[in-house]
Formats: sequence, structure tokens, C-alpha cells
Amino acid sequence: VSTTIDQLETPEVLVDHDRLIANIKRVQAIADRHVLALRPHAKTHKCIEIAQLQIEHGAIGVAASKVDEAIIFIESGAIRSITIAYPIVDQRKLDRLVTAAERNHVDLRITVDSAIGIEIARRSGARLHVFLKVDVGLHRCGINEASPDLCPLAARIGGNLEFAGLLSHAGHAYGASNFRDIVCVAEEERLTLLRVCDRLLADGIAVREISVGSTPTVLGSESFEGITAIRPGNYVFLDATALRLGIASANDVALSVLTTIISANDRYFIIDAGSKVLSSDLGAHGTGGNAGYGLAFRLDDPSGQPLRVVRLSEEHGFVEREGDLAIGTKLRVIPNHACPVANLAERLTVVSGDHVVDQWAVAARGKVR
Ligand SMILES: Cc1ncc(COP(=O)(O)O)c(C=O)c1O
Repeated sequence: VSTTIDQLETPEVLVDHDRLIANIKRVQAIADRHVLALRPHAKTHKCIEIAQLQIEHGAIGVAASKVDEAIIFIESGAIRSITIAYPIVDQRKLDRLVTAAERNHVDLRITVDSAIGIEIARRSGARLHVFLKVDVGLHRCGINEASPDLCPLAARIGGNLEFAGLLSHAGHAYGASNFRDIVCVAEEERLTLLRVCDRLLADGIAVREISVGSTPTVLGSESFEGITAIRPGNYVFLDATALRLGIASANDVALSVLTTIISANDRYFIIDAGSKVLSSDLGAHGTGGNAGYGLAFRLDDPSGQPLRVVRLSEEHGFVEREGDLAIGTKLRVIPNHACPVANLAERLTVVSGDHVVDQWAVAARGKVR
């Protein structure tokens, strides 16, 4: 595709190739240094080409949330192993997943936090590696470390099911107000999992793997002792939330939305990207904390002071007006949360410097079942 960014129609989701590779290498280096298996969460990009790059750089598989999202990666031939880091409680979904994994010879690992999840896995008849999910503070899915159900649930994983270990996601790290808080969340997660391990071992249940993963905690952890695998997702792109948390600088952010100023009034520049492009997300897991919906940079001054996107309609963004910018001017917006932005896009336009070098389909976009 022989064109430059300023010639593109807008809105268009851009991925900076050099930054993408740098982000992939940054986390792979963490995994290598601490002898961790890296299984990046593919819900961030939903893109086969990016999964391939992650594998080429050393990831040993990917993680996914939803069954149909996982099937896209299984069928792509790009991966040999997948972890579903999400409880499946519908037999039809698990059977569909198992069929795809068996047909493509992909190692399938699933996650449970209830007796019904284990029962469904047992009924599938497939030989499956099963993780028990532990709630480490997000209070979303997972068994509490003090729950009386912990050991009985793990003990039920048998027959065609093999107990793979513990899995957690410290998404509450996104609510941190500074880098030190992230380090504390990561350490609490690690210590919680090690205590759960000890409880299970006391009941004669050995834990083979301990899989953690959120971008802030992976980038912020001081110790991975006892951990065997990481599943960060957002790190490939990063976003305004990562900037707020102090885990990245604007020069690291690989995903941005190219927009055009289509109108202006005395308060706002109006851009052609609204909630249908930028999403209305204020940050991961509803933790909020970002002022507005994104940071808008001028193409001719990429390291200048950004303007804030302060309101959204569906098809319009309201950018705080400072100085004079002509209608037709293009801006590059770093969104609050890159993951839903990728899911809203049909394709990612890959750029190197000012040049468009490729276009990749967001193959698993909208696969929410
Ligand atoms: C279970 C689970 N694992 C891993 C991740 C990846 O987290 P992040 O995108 O912060 O890297 C998520 C994200 O929501 C998740 O829900």
C-alpha cells in the first residue's frame, strides 16, 4: 500500500509497526529473564498477524476470553496452544471449542471457577487441561483464597480433566493511582496464589502452573518467584491509561486513531471519531481515572502537548479548543483503552514512520460469544 498517513481517509485505526515490535520484545524479555511462559491475551488485538508476531518472538501460545474469538485463532493455524482465561458454563460453547481444537491439533486449556464449569468440561469427554481461577482482588471471577470450596473444587478436576494449576487476573491494578500501587497489587497477587498453592498441597493437590497477567502488573512486578506463566494483552498497543499509570510513554503507544477536524466552534474542534470508533471506555474494568476519552496529537507536532478529547457523540468527538487549527487538519488520537478500539475496527492500518506498510484484518472482531 503505497501511501502516507496524511493521505488516508479518516477515521482510521493505525498501528505503528516499530512500536508494536518494541512492545512485543519488551514483554518477551521480561518472560525470558524470569523464565516464564508468555501466552499473550489475544482479546487486545483480535488479529492473526499480531498473534503470529508474538509467537515468532517467543510466545508459546495465546490466551483468549470468548469461545468464538478463540476459534478464529485455532482455525488460523498460527498457534499450537490456547488458554481460555474465562469460565465456560454452556455445553454447546465448550463442545464447539473442543471440536475446533481437536480438528486443528491445538492444545486447549480452559478455566473454571464453579462446579458447573467442571461438570461441563467432564461431559465434553475431551482430555482437557483445567485451571482454577482465583480472585486476587478484582472481585469479578474466581474463587476466594479463603473459600471452603477451594480444595473440593480442585479435587473434582479429574477423569478426562487434568488439573493444570491456578490462573488469576489482577485487573484492579488499573485503579492504581501511581506506579508504586501497581507493584503492591502484583506482589499481593503473587503471595495470594502461593498461599492457595500451599492450601492445595496440604490437601495433596499439586499445582503445576501459576498463570497471572495484566499489562500493569507484568510491567510493574518486582518478583515473579513461583509464577510460571504470564498473559498480558494490552501491552502490544498500550494507550492513555498506560500513560496515566506511568507504565509507558507516548512514544511507546502503538495504536492510535487518525481523525480529521470536520468542524469547529468557540469551545471545541469537532473530529470525525466518536464512541463508535474510540469507544466510551474510560479505562479497563470500569476503573476510570482518565480525564476525557483520548489525547489528540497534531501530525506536524507529534511530541507536542496533546489536546484532550473531552466528549463523544456516536460519530463526533469534542476536542478541547486551544489555538487555531484549520478544518481538515488531521489529528492522531491515543484512546483511553486500545482493546475495545481494535474490536470496533474492521482492520488495522500498519504504519512505519509516516508510511502505510500493510493492512491487517481484525479477524476476531465482534466475536463475543
Ligand atoms: C483473565 C484475563 N487475563 C489477562 C488479561 C490481560 O490483561 P491486560 O489487557 O491488562 O494485559 C485480561 C484482560 O482483561 C483478562 O481478563
